[in-house]
Amino acid sequence: MPWTELKTRRWPAFDKELDGISKETMEDHFKLYEGYAKKANECRKILKEFDYSEIEGNQVYSPLRAVSVDYTFALLGFKNHDLYFGHLGGDGGDPNGRFAEVIEDEYPGGIEMWQQAIRKAASAARGWVMVGYDLNDGSIFNYIMDTQNLWAVYNMCPILALDVYEHAYTRDYGATRLGSRQPAATPGRGGTPGRPAGAGGGEGSGPSLNRLAAFAGLPARRSDRPRTGPAGGSLSGLFEFR
Ligand SMILES: [Fe+2]
Repeated sequence: MPWTELKTRRWPAFDKELDGISKETMEDHFKLYEGYAKKANECRKILKEFDYSEIEGNQVYSPLRAVSVDYTFALLGFKNHDLYFGHLGGDGGDPNGRFAEVIEDEYPGGIEMWQQAIRKAASAARGWVMVGYDLNDGSIFNYIMDTQNLWAVYNMCPILALDVYEHAYTRDYGATRLGSRQPAATPGRGGTPGRPAGAGGGEGSGPSLNRLAAFAGLPARRSDRPRTGPAGGSLSGLFEFR
């Protein structure tokens, strides 16, 4: 198996004053990200060392089953956080380019309705929301994932990862996700004075979702290439990655 060692990255967001997420939360969160990388590497080592001619395959319990299942939890814990931390700290702003066009096609209320949809998805999820582009049909969907390795689908390419586990916001906002607390370390940053960014006060107005759902920092440059039709999506037709 051509696996190499997974390594965490100190994404630029760790060196910035983020709008709505404190440095304390980011540093604590980084430790979890490191833990996922460590355990995914540990699982890889074990999976490489198994003697597959001798090992038991048992659906009730077997080391092969346990490590294989938990490997996906650890690996996606690593991958999801890689995406999430990579998004943070951009300039923000509304979606644009081909992504905006696809959203306008899919949601009768356009970008505004998509933003409402992703906030509702975030309030309905227990772990993650992954905005994904389906390479089979070119559709965008907000995948609700109660844990990092559940309920994404094949041929979906993640575009925007929202971590809605409590560890991502409780220190700054409390446990309700309603954004009723001022973030602990956000003086001088944007938003309405006295209210944290993303604090809409209603259901699903999760912390920082305004900023995250605004596609913070993603390279959504307009592509001149046409969108591939229903028979197959094309990421290169959606974005031109820098
Ligand atoms: Fe997390």
